[in-house]
Amino acid sequence: MAPIIYAHRGASKAAPENTMPAFELAAKQGADGIETDVQLTKDQIPVLIHDENVRRTTDGIGFVQDYTYKELQELDAGSWFSSTYSNTTIPTLDQLLAWNKKKKLKLNIELKNGVIDYEHIEKIVCERIQAHKMEKLSVISTFNFKSLKRLQKLNCAIPYSYLTSRRNPDLVQLAKELGVTGLHIRYRLLSKRLVEKAKAEKIYTAVYTVNHPFSIARVLRLGAHGLFTDIPSLAIQIKKKLTN
Ligand code: G3P
Ligand code: MG
Repeated sequence: MAPIIYAHRGASKAAPENTMPAFELAAKQGADGIETDVQLTKDQIPVLIHDENVRRTTDGIGFVQDYTYKELQELDAGSWFSSTYSNTTIPTLDQLLAWNKKKKLKLNIELKNGVIDYEHIEKIVCERIQAHKMEKLSVISTFNFKSLKRLQKLNCAIPYSYLTSRRNPDLVQLAKELGVTGLHIRYRLLSKRLVEKAKAEKIYTAVYTVNHPFSIARVLRLGAHGLFTDIPSLAIQIKKKLTN
């Protein structure tokens, strides 16, 4: 049932973002879906980490694209958050897809190709989703306009969405031109008019990143199709209250 509550980078308020413990916790809390970010290693392995540089969320330095997958596995991706998570590593997209075979959560796979426009990331991610037969549960999203065009050409049978924080006089028209199924908008762009206009064109809207009870309730009331939150337990609680 809409709206879909996506755990943003997993349950990232309570566990280190984009790690298996954060995904596990999101599932345990009852999130409908997981939002995660993909970058590519030197050997073209899609890995789940928000920044193109490992510095903020691991004990390493430098760019993801300069590490092989094996080298990247040596990094501790949990201690920066809490010593409880010191044995946590950066997961691969394959790991998440395999884990989701039993969980069957919705997956929002965001291509993090805004700073580094990784060649072939669209094709690689599509192939991995298809290899795990996870097409129906997945949606790909990106802020990168060129990447959306490449997805359009690729025709890979996985829906893709335009992620944006920019005001545009006609976002819905733009979405139609890009062939996207959804508009993933920053909270400040949210309006009743936009949600309704998009809905009339069969384009769904999802809103990021909402952690405050007021903004969560507003997204739910305006009838958006999905929301991204670091605190899925809170959004679930509010959704229950509003639907009862
Ligand atoms: O996909 C929604 C949201 O994750 C986009 O922003 O920077 O948190 O990846 P960011
Ligand atoms: Mg993201």
